[in-house]
Amino acid sequence: LNYHVPRTRREILEVLIKGLRRLEYRGYDSAGVGIDGGNGKELETKAKTIHLIKQTGKVNALDEEILRQQEVDLDVEFDVHLGIAHTRWATHGVPSPVNSHPQRSDKNNEFIVIHNGIITNYKDLKKFLESKGYEFESETDTETIAKLVKYLYDNRESDDITFATLVEQVTQQLEGAFALVFKSLHYPGEAVGTRRGGPLLIGVRSDHKLSTDHIPILYRSSGKDKKSCNTLPRMDLDTCLFPVDDKAVEYYFASDASAVIEHTNRVIFLEDDDVAAVSDGRLSIHRIKRTAGDHPARAIQTLQMELQQIMKGNFSSFMQKEIFEQPESVVNTMRGRVNFENNTLILGGLKDHIKEIQRCRRLILIACGTSYHAGVATRQVLEELTELPVMVELASDFLDRNTPVFRDDVCFFISQSGETADSLLALRYCKERGALTVGITNTVGSSISRETDCGVHINAGPEIGVASTKAYTSQFVALIMFALLMCDDRISVQPRRREIIQGLKVLPDLIKEVLSLDEEIQKLAAELYQQKSVLIMGRGYHYATCLEGALKIKEITYMHSEGILAGELKHGPLALVDKLMPVIMIIMRDHTYTKCQNALQQVVARQGRPIVICDKEDYETISNSSRTIKVPHCVDCLQGVLSVIPLQLLSFHLAVLRGYDVDCPRNLAKSVTVE
Ligand code: G6P
Repeated sequence: LNYHVPRTRREILEVLIKGLRRLEYRGYDSAGVGIDGGNGKELETKAKTIHLIKQTGKVNALDEEILRQQEVDLDVEFDVHLGIAHTRWATHGVPSPVNSHPQRSDKNNEFIVIHNGIITNYKDLKKFLESKGYEFESETDTETIAKLVKYLYDNRESDDITFATLVEQVTQQLEGAFALVFKSLHYPGEAVGTRRGGPLLIGVRSDHKLSTDHIPILYRSSGKDKKSCNTLPRMDLDTCLFPVDDKAVEYYFASDASAVIEHTNRVIFLEDDDVAAVSDGRLSIHRIKRTAGDHPARAIQTLQMELQQIMKGNFSSFMQKEIFEQPESVVNTMRGRVNFENNTLILGGLKDHIKEIQRCRRLILIACGTSYHAGVATRQVLEELTELPVMVELASDFLDRNTPVFRDDVCFFISQSGETADSLLALRYCKERGALTVGITNTVGSSISRETDCGVHINAGPEIGVASTKAYTSQFVALIMFALLMCDDRISVQPRRREIIQGLKVLPDLIKEVLSLDEEIQKLAAELYQQKSVLIMGRGYHYATCLEGALKIKEITYMHSEGILAGELKHGPLALVDKLMPVIMIIMRDHTYTKCQNALQQVVARQGRPIVICDKEDYETISNSSRTIKVPHCVDCLQGVLSVIPLQLLSFHLAVLRGYDVDCPRNLAKSVTVE
């Protein structure tokens, strides 16, 4: 939203399309944009039109569609302009232009809205609106929001109802999860955004020094009497507007900082049920009423993220870039936290809680997808170093089971995005039961990082590829650091602690060494890419690697792949093995070594010809196997960081050879903000 910062329509569309490209990893089955029509001069007359341009497919397809639109004159200049844009990952209704966002209230586009999330009571709302004569054109839940706002506008009690008030009334009717941004013909040049469950932030850009670093919240004077709330006392409003002077400001509403970072690093993270409105170039944040524990202001934060961190550089895909970033990303996870000289550790985000955690009854690690695997990978060392029972749970299943949780439990929520709906719901479930909650996230300001009592940011840098790679190894390292911290005053474990800390020290170099196997793995991929299936077997510390490797292969190559606990081989999976079935085995020189050798023999005895990922100095395995991928040796509990990388690389090369889009696998999204 440019406010008194003149821009041509071309520039405005460029900002929107570029923002969508940065967010494309959130959804890429269709995209759309809503912009002002007219010649930029009739803002006050309310006679403007709104153009909606929507297209199935990726953002490029939308970009091309915009150029095809004859009536959109790109050279018109606007002093004030609000455009909204969206990339979609379908939940209700197939990907198609009509199901894409913005959704609209009616054929004149009086109100348009973009939505991230799911409205669970949309069927009831739709029935109600249909009974009032509204005709629906799409299959989306979002369309009910656009129609509802028009219904409330048409039935307003007072003519001077503000856009923010209207949106507040809408959100009171909505159930489910959402982040929304609205635009309307009735409120030209105004934007209103709100969230509940879905992330939403506002970037603020001004060439002038900002007059404040926080924005006070406007509470409705009385929550009881809704009618009296339609207009706010002018005085309150004045003190809560940003900026206080008449400086020209541009505002960017977005669900993720990566969409705005090239314009500004000053952002405001909205909280659930905040309604943020920009009107007359000034921003205000509204809430219905103040409740205990509410912070009465929102800070304008300065982000450290750099644009180049979210650019692909010389790599063909974000996933490839992120795989190769791992020597640095694990260093960033440890930076300022591990002292390799005197074997000590600090985790600032946990320091006030560590004593309480040490006294707890058990640790529960809760997550989805790859983040869940980071929990599986570190469970054993957590059990060893904390001497506590450790449960590792998939968030959806944990909720389905109504798992008993107690006040003296400590619950960890591992999430790259910090926004995964199932993990977030599990977090709220554990909080309600009085457990201490700890976030392990990669996204500063995300819902999980804000709602947990304490936590660790893994600092891996933005991860864009849908298939998670560097976040996994950084989560792994962060959990190991936590385990080390939990036992720093236990004399008996000091030699083990030192061994692991020294392992962390050499880890980045060892990761580099594994990455140098890239060419060899590419050749292997060339032999395997036409196969239908790959089995990955291992046990102990490497069971998680099997699960994670199989997930990577499934996600981006669409081949069938299964991670198999080698201890379970003889209870079923062995039946799949024959001379044709591709098998990868992980055999490392740890306490499971002999058992892994047995598994290798069992597979070979069924004419299997496994590819073995093993220690480069394990001559026994090397001589017993027809094909090996040799990785350097590391302390047992960190070896999983090294064993997973060949599988990340393999899945990447398989996907490229099979001709798929590595960063945007079909049917998947990076950040799953729906249940
Ligand atoms: C999605 C992504 C996965 C990710 C999972 C959990 O399924 O595609 O890569 O592991 O969500 O996401 P989180 O952000 O909570 O780690």
